[in-house]
Amino acid sequence: MPTLAVIICSTRPGRVGVPIANWFSSIAVAHGGFDVEMIDLKEVNLPQYDEPNHPVLADYVHDHTKRWSATVSRADAFVFVTPEYNHSFSAATKNAIDFLHNEWHHKAVGFVSYGGVSGGTRAVQALKPVCTALRMVPTVAGVILPLPFGLVDDAGIFRGDDAMAGAANATLDELARWTQTLKAMRA
Ligand SMILES: Cc1cc2nc3c(=O)[nH]c(=O)nc-3n(C[C@H](O)[C@H](O)[C@H](O)COP(=O)(O)O)c2cc1C
Repeated sequence: MPTLAVIICSTRPGRVGVPIANWFSSIAVAHGGFDVEMIDLKEVNLPQYDEPNHPVLADYVHDHTKRWSATVSRADAFVFVTPEYNHSFSAATKNAIDFLHNEWHHKAVGFVSYGGVSGGTRAVQALKPVCTALRMVPTVAGVILPLPFGLVDDAGIFRGDDAMAGAANATLDELARWTQTLKAMRA
């Protein structure tokens, strides 16, 4: 089975990104189309971009970059679980993307976005051209979660409704189809 990396893009204490990513991951596991791997940018803990060579060369000097390269390389598709910060995506996300190059190529990418009433849609619109610059293929289906905070219960579990779960499954279906097609491009 292909591997889907679900990437938690927020790093601040108290982030709602963790319960949302857990919710999406459990739907992705039940979907059955992927082996699901959760990647937390807080745990990846990259410094600000500090490689001397352009990442296209994959001539990395730092162990943290080599580890990050191995993590992204073993994924066949991605889902960015992204908050909206100042009408865009988080700086941690851009930093993590910029560290690598070929590792992102010809892989499908979906988005679970959240924030205020806009549901993180501006973050996704800003993230898409960055992804396509690295030859990722964004799905049209996506999960948009406006004001998700009220759906996190006292145990810290995000309780998405049926419409949200439907959007998650539509995104996973589209990712699975693209992943099959893009495999040939990576061969
Ligand atoms: C620095 C910062 C900027 C934000 N800017 C926006 C914004 O432009 N639009 C929006 O809908 N929400 C904005 N928010 C609200 C966040 O989307 C909300 O706090 C969300 O919970 C952040 O994700 P996190 O909890 O995973 O960090 C902002 C929050 C922070 C901390």
